[in-house]
Amino acid sequence: MPELIDKIYKERQVHDADGKAINPFPASIRRGLGEAFAELIAERNLTSSIEIGLAYGMSALFIAGAHKQRGNGSHVAVDPGQDNYHNIGKLNLERAGLDSITEVLEVPSYEALPALLSEGRRFDFAFIDGMHLFDFTLVDFFYIDLMLDVGGVVVFDDIGMKACRSAAMYAMKNRSYERVPVKTTAGVPIHVKAARVVRKLISDPFSLRDLPLKLTAEGVVVLEKTADDNRAYDHHKLF
Ligand SMILES: C[S@@+](CC[C@H](N)C(=O)[O-])C[C@H]1O[C@@H](n2cnc3c(N)ncnc32)[C@H](O)[C@@H]1O
Repeated sequence: MPELIDKIYKERQVHDADGKAINPFPASIRRGLGEAFAELIAERNLTSSIEIGLAYGMSALFIAGAHKQRGNGSHVAVDPGQDNYHNIGKLNLERAGLDSITEVLEVPSYEALPALLSEGRRFDFAFIDGMHLFDFTLVDFFYIDLMLDVGGVVVFDDIGMKACRSAAMYAMKNRSYERVPVKTTAGVPIHVKAARVVRKLISDPFSLRDLPLKLTAEGVVVLEKTADDNRAYDHHKLF
């Protein structure tokens, strides 16, 4: 893993081009999740990744870092908002020597994804962590699914939020995806894990359909694509 990762998680600071320090949390992923990504990418030999939402570049450092460590693979990061993050996502990729294997597309995902699709691009790992509204998350998933290889993996972040959880539930109930168990909470105290579950249950107490995602302390759901889309034109399962 890039040394930069260690430094940032220890100091809890990132730096802009002038050296000004900024706390990248809570906007950035927790270390446990980043490490789970790197492991998954290495174990499954996933070589072509995409993420929606670069921010300070922390998830990109883990994902592209895993490609670099293996010696092959490339990453695409989509984010129209680098200005809001002092361009630190791009700077961190350069600092870690990952800019040559990472393409940063500074447009909203609803523009970038159809363009990538029409270029015939394919991916085997995708991280959805951009605009967290339901419709944006679902549109991200829609296009990613069209470009994701069977056997590839898509991760929905922030399933503590109903909008993201619903988009993930749509995929789980209506599409050919299977949940991949991940442990991203090593070191998180038991009472924090319990609080996460309770918060999800309280925020939406009457929906039992998404219970499996409420009962996990993981902040994400990881899904493996098991088949291309083969639904009848009128298929629909409540989610
Ligand atoms: C939670 S942050 C991403 C954090 C990053 N994945 C990490 O863990 O280090 C969300 C990012 O989504 C970006 N974003 C917002 N709307 C977007 C859109 N329509 N398309 C792509 N990215 C978007 C924001 O600019 C922000 O950088």
